[in-house]
Amino acid sequence: MCIPYSCPLFVQRLHGDENGSFVSGTPYRMEMGAGMWKREKKPGEGYVTGWKAKEKGFEVWCRKMIVAAYKGIRRGHWKKVVKRVLLALFVVVGVFILGRYLLSDELEVTFHHLYSPKILGTDNTRLVVLSDLHNREFGTDNTTLIRQISSLEPDLIIMAGDMVNAYEDDLDVILHLCDELLKVAPVYYGPGNHENHLFYEKGSPLESLLMERGVHVLVNRAEEVTIHKTPFLIGGLTTAPEGFEEYGVEFIEEYEKSSDFKLLIAHYPGLYYDALADTEIDLGICGHYHGGLVRLPILEGLYHGDVGFLPKYSGGMYSLPRSTIFVSRGMEDHSGFPRVNNRPELAVIDINGRQETER
Ligand SMILES: [Fe+2]
Repeated sequence: MCIPYSCPLFVQRLHGDENGSFVSGTPYRMEMGAGMWKREKKPGEGYVTGWKAKEKGFEVWCRKMIVAAYKGIRRGHWKKVVKRVLLALFVVVGVFILGRYLLSDELEVTFHHLYSPKILGTDNTRLVVLSDLHNREFGTDNTTLIRQISSLEPDLIIMAGDMVNAYEDDLDVILHLCDELLKVAPVYYGPGNHENHLFYEKGSPLESLLMERGVHVLVNRAEEVTIHKTPFLIGGLTTAPEGFEEYGVEFIEEYEKSSDFKLLIAHYPGLYYDALADTEIDLGICGHYHGGLVRLPILEGLYHGDVGFLPKYSGGMYSLPRSTIFVSRGMEDHSGFPRVNNRPELAVIDINGRQETER
């Protein structure tokens, strides 16, 4: 007897029950059309999206690979199978390393040491340096960042500019961060290019809001502070090397005369190419280059728009003829380009009168 494919009896026998469910648990209804079985999903049924879809896709891919390897082994193609397994392993390990290390966006705490005969006594003076935060948050309300800084027990917290985004009205992130960090240690703030209009344009609110809270905002001026018996003169320069003759020369001439430990916050490392190249500064602190975005072995930072490829001072401590500078790699991307091998940096600088120090 001929049974039409659309007959309910036929469908029941195939599927095991009247709801059209397979024993395997995948529910769907079968209908015959144009000589083929068609699978018809109910609305919203059987579809997976997002990570689940990726996991499912990966599962299917793994299953196919295992089946292919099994078939290859049965046919005696050992060498081919081993080669492919090694290649697959290489790809998986490569993707893992790329994701876990090279593209990691986790905060990295870096430690640096500076020896100076100007430091009196045996105590460390510990600075924590933040730069180029660009309104970013590490944890809700920056709790991760604040907790991390607090655990480092700094004597001073230095903000080296670009903590906000130019022409963004949102000042909540930086103000909240300063409120919390002022409970940990004094905060010294030098402006970056992104603070330009928030600091210098008429009626700009940021500078006064920071100062009201007790942040030491340094724009072409310096303040004295004594830490563990050592007098420090902490200065801050307006940002760009362009115009230094007008805004910086007078201040730096006066600043250089001091015999205190001179710590200068100047956002642009480019100032040390020329304008500050012959200035005696015990420790200059900069940012701006975001570590050159891609960190290369030996060559260091790859690129910054201001200076092109391989910027001279892209991240770390540099000894210049008359000064030492530290250039922070910053904490945020730049112009949407990802950071590679260049995790956001929270830098710790221990300054003391010992040539070597233990961590
Ligand atoms: Fe920046």
